Amino acid sequence: MAATARTFTGTPKNLAFLARRLKAGEIVAVPTETVYGLAGDATSSAACRRIFAAKGRPTDDPLIVHIASIKDLDRVAVANPEARKLAKAFWPGPLTLVLPKTGLVPDLATAGLPSVAVRMPSHPLFRKLIRLAGVPLAAPSANPFGYVSPTSAAHVARNLGKRIRYILDGGSSSIGLESTILDLRSPRKPVLLRPGAITKAELDRVLDRPVARPRKASSGARVAPGQMARHYSPRTRVVLHPGLTLEKAVRGPQNAAWLFIGRPGTLGRLPANVFWLDPLGDLKLAARRLFSVLRELDDGGFSSIHVERPSGGGIAEALLDRLVRAASR
Ligand code: TXA
Ligand code: MG
Repeated sequence: MAATARTFTGTPKNLAFLARRLKAGEIVAVPTETVYGLAGDATSSAACRRIFAAKGRPTDDPLIVHIASIKDLDRVAVANPEARKLAKAFWPGPLTLVLPKTGLVPDLATAGLPSVAVRMPSHPLFRKLIRLAGVPLAAPSANPFGYVSPTSAAHVARNLGKRIRYILDGGSSSIGLESTILDLRSPRKPVLLRPGAITKAELDRVLDRPVARPRKASSGARVAPGQMARHYSPRTRVVLHPGLTLEKAVRGPQNAAWLFIGRPGTLGRLPANVFWLDPLGDLKLAARRLFSVLRELDDGGFSSIHVERPSGGGIAEALLDRLVRAASR
């Protein structure tokens, strides 16, 4: 019989129980400030194998290893001064660093690469759980491979409820987009592999040099392991529109959904197929809601989802990255 996931609140007793399950090599869906993760003992090949299997994820797509304290960085990675500087500036938080790995991390976790992606999350329940488990925890986003990342325990239950046994509920993810990933294997030539809430400008400032961007992902091409162009995709077709206006939405097909970043027009009733991420168009709040709104619209029976294309730097870059992936076929 298929397992049915049980959702746990973060009581001390529940955390102790889930930590024991993790130590025994089982996997647990966990809250993080970015998105929910599917966690297992990062030092155990068997636990990592369970993560790949539950997600239906190909084993050539490496996992992120999560630690509870900066002291643990050296257990999993060979750090350089630039990495320590960034860790000090941004951890705990939504920044993942790619560094040479240590022998503690099994090849399966890194998809056979000699490097490891490591981050120290800020969500208090996840950090408590890592501490109690006593080992670094490997955790990809807790979605079936290729689908939109989950930002709540309910999202995880809905997609993976029959494939995993334990979900820790820590509320809605406050950031809502996956972490920024920075390749620091060559510390003098840092490369931004995935934009996120920690922006390029913030990284440039702390490193005192501009981080490079990888080649643009073209369909099917890979700029980094696991960074396929098509990713984070709803089943419904997503189309991006630069400078989308209410007039255009009203003239468009009525069985389509029209999603704006801010509320288009402040007054009056809007058609039922017009949506927005944040009333005032605050990009941080828009990022927080993006994945849950995409999931709702995906379940809403619309023929297609038309989205206002975000523009600008900072977190807009991360929003745009996720939307371009959602829209790529
Ligand atoms: O915010 C996050 O980062 C979330 C939460 C759970 O921490 N995790 C997450 O994991 O987004 P995932 O597995 O969905 O994305 C991890 C990506 C991989 O697809 C790959 O692109 C990159 O991290 N990655 C992992 N290890 C790498 C490595 N050694 N070198 C280059 N990229 C790596
Ligand atoms: Mg993912």
